[in-house]
Amino acid sequence: MSADLHHNDITATREADLRRFHLAHLALRTHADDICRALAALRPGEVEKAAAIGRLWMIYEAAARGHDVAESALCWPVVVERDPSFAEVQADMDKQHQVVDEQARTASNALNRLAEEACRATIADAVEAMAALRQGIEDHFIDEEDRAFPRLAATFTDEDLDALERRRHRMPKDMRVMFIAAEDGAARRANARDLVAALPLGDRIRLALFWRRHYRKIVAPVLAIK
Ligand SMILES: [Fe+2]
Repeated sequence: MSADLHHNDITATREADLRRFHLAHLALRTHADDICRALAALRPGEVEKAAAIGRLWMIYEAAARGHDVAESALCWPVVVERDPSFAEVQADMDKQHQVVDEQARTASNALNRLAEEACRATIADAVEAMAALRQGIEDHFIDEEDRAFPRLAATFTDEDLDALERRRHRMPKDMRVMFIAAEDGAARRANARDLVAALPLGDRIRLALFWRRHYRKIVAPVLAIK
């Protein structure tokens, strides 16, 4: 009985492992930086290079949206249900997600126009839109990591994290593989071994055997734009 109580105490005070959330933020920061740098180096008429940026952008946009939707729909409502005082932070996070969404839409339009024609004006627009988005996600992530993550860590359970993992498995496989490869790639480039270790073992094995080549195929051409 007392052993049970003691066990309950430990589980009640243990913090949820949020490394996958930090990994997602790292991947979104890293690849936004990659796109910003490549755009800054792009010259008019470089159609192939613009197309390479466009391919990375399409994956980026889907990953960013999926991440924000998961937080807004699956994480913050759980926290607020168990800790009603989180409502204020939740409202701020939802507002910030809307701001970032709008910046992503502007960037998407600019990158689509760039894919049609890589001229001085479309490049300048894309540079500007991506810079705004990069700053937007930074402002949001800093606040989210500061005010929302500690509350999430205090409230979330292993079952909640398992539910998020099951949701990842319901994504189309190509997309899931690309997102994991992007997270792994960003963590390796940042030398963040603890974050790589947060990926499930089976995924780490498949990354080493197969999936990293998908990442290289998409990201290497963008990193080569100088
Ligand atoms: Fe986030």
